[in-house]
Amino acid sequence: MSVTVRVPAKVNIQLAVGGARPDGFHDLANVFLAVSLYDEVTVRPAPALTLTCEGPDAARVPLDRTNLAARAAELLAARHGLSPDVHIHIAKDIPVAGGMAGGSADGAGALLACDTLWGLGTPRSELLSLCAELGSDVPFSLLGGAALGTGRGDRLTPLGVGGTFHWVFAVADGGLSTPAVYGEFDRLTAGTPVPAPEASAPLLDALRTGDAPALGAALANDLQPAALSLRPSLRSTLDTGLAAGALAALVSGSGPTTAFLVKDEDAAASVAAALSASGTCRAARVASSPVPGAVVR
Ligand code: C5P
Repeated sequence: MSVTVRVPAKVNIQLAVGGARPDGFHDLANVFLAVSLYDEVTVRPAPALTLTCEGPDAARVPLDRTNLAARAAELLAARHGLSPDVHIHIAKDIPVAGGMAGGSADGAGALLACDTLWGLGTPRSELLSLCAELGSDVPFSLLGGAALGTGRGDRLTPLGVGGTFHWVFAVADGGLSTPAVYGEFDRLTAGTPVPAPEASAPLLDALRTGDAPALGAALANDLQPAALSLRPSLRSTLDTGLAAGALAALVSGSGPTTAFLVKDEDAAASVAAALSASGTCRAARVASSPVPGAVVR
């Protein structure tokens, strides 16, 4: 008996960041969009909690209890007085430490897979609050589609999407640490007032009407200057995708993956080819959005 859950990556189409809070987090207006790059998380009964991972970047995935998938199994088991005796296998296709919520996807996937394996039937609202205990981006990995995240990004309001948006993602060599990028944001904004984060009305309109050029004009990521400061070479990746015809380009979340909004599948293929040929990234991936959140296969 095993249970497999498929979970999508995300791109932040708006990431408005407020000043640092006393708890070290930042208040956000974070517009998430789930995209068609997926990890698959399979759980089966085992003598003890163990973890394996396959995929091109598997060697960079921690296989100990720091992995969000392991923490999800432990959290759910503890809540129900169970022992988390499962083997978790992650088939990883989402870039590792790339700003696309790959670790969060595995946390949400393991939570839903264990809930199903153990026959717990935990209500959706409770699963979402367990996700929020695991990390700021984990609730969205469960929910999918599109949503506005407020607070530290974990309080979600689902958003309507009026069409399909096409993307190319340029995968960078190596990852960027999310706390390091937020730390750089604090350093770059020190001494200047940071306005309270607010969702952009033109961006939400473009999402609702499926208007890709308008969405492109409204894309915004307040972490981008921090990610570019830590990884200046990303500028040439962004410029390469724009020169190849992308409607807009931005760093995905805390990076270093860069995201290119394109008008259709043909444009996606040519922007991906230009990025691959340019040597400014390790790989270029084509995806569309929105897609559903975590689902049992
Ligand atoms: O919630 P999560 O564990 O994903 O957050 C990782 C780190 O990212 C936090 O420890 C914090 O440094 C930073 N962060 C933040 N504000 C947020 C979300 C994350 O400063 N809203």
